[in-house]
Amino acid sequence: MSNVVWHQTTISNEDRNKLLSQKPFVLWFTGLSASGKSSIANIVEQKLYQMKYNTYLLDGDNVRHGLNRDLGFNEKSRVENIRRIGEVAKLFIDSGIITLTAFISPFKSDRQLVRELFDAGQFIEVFIDSSLETCENRDPKGMYIKARKGEIENFTGISSPYEVPVSPEIHVVNNLITLDEASDQIITHLKEKKLIK
Ligand code: ADX
Repeated sequence: MSNVVWHQTTISNEDRNKLLSQKPFVLWFTGLSASGKSSIANIVEQKLYQMKYNTYLLDGDNVRHGLNRDLGFNEKSRVENIRRIGEVAKLFIDSGIITLTAFISPFKSDRQLVRELFDAGQFIEVFIDSSLETCENRDPKGMYIKARKGEIENFTGISSPYEVPVSPEIHVVNNLITLDEASDQIITHLKEKKLIK
């Protein structure tokens, strides 16, 4: 990219934040398939909306139908999946929007790379921690059964690793609590950190 120079826009990130009356941040949900990432992110977004915050939720299953439809689930594709989402999230943050992402994002190094795209305090890693056993029992899309039979390759938790976050900003153990309780834990953290009122 040596011949491409960053173009400075007249309207700045601060200008947009002022107009929207908010300071954006990323809630980066990570966890096994069926851990509850998308469902909890969805409820958190509803709660933020009710509090009049401008938000957007980027969800793995949806983004893989469009922007990332060329990507599969081998290691290289997953790395690229998360790299692109990190860059998209960065654009959303620059536009002033509170951004929620719900991707398995199984590799520590990828999550770290994304974290480094943001200012300190702007990237909030949310580990939705449901045991593999719980996820397999839920199996809403019947994928774990297929993965166990060897009908899906590279399935996270079965035939592809999930690297547990070491020090996520928010750790929600989601085996026995309700989705509403899980989402409240996240809202409480945001209030404590004064990211929302
Ligand atoms: S990630 O690992 O690259 O972050 P992402 O969150 O985008 O994954 O997509 C995960 C979703 O894709 C799962 O919820 C599941 O519905 C579907 N899926 C299809 N194949 C796989 C697989 N091999 N491993 C995990 N999820 C898969």
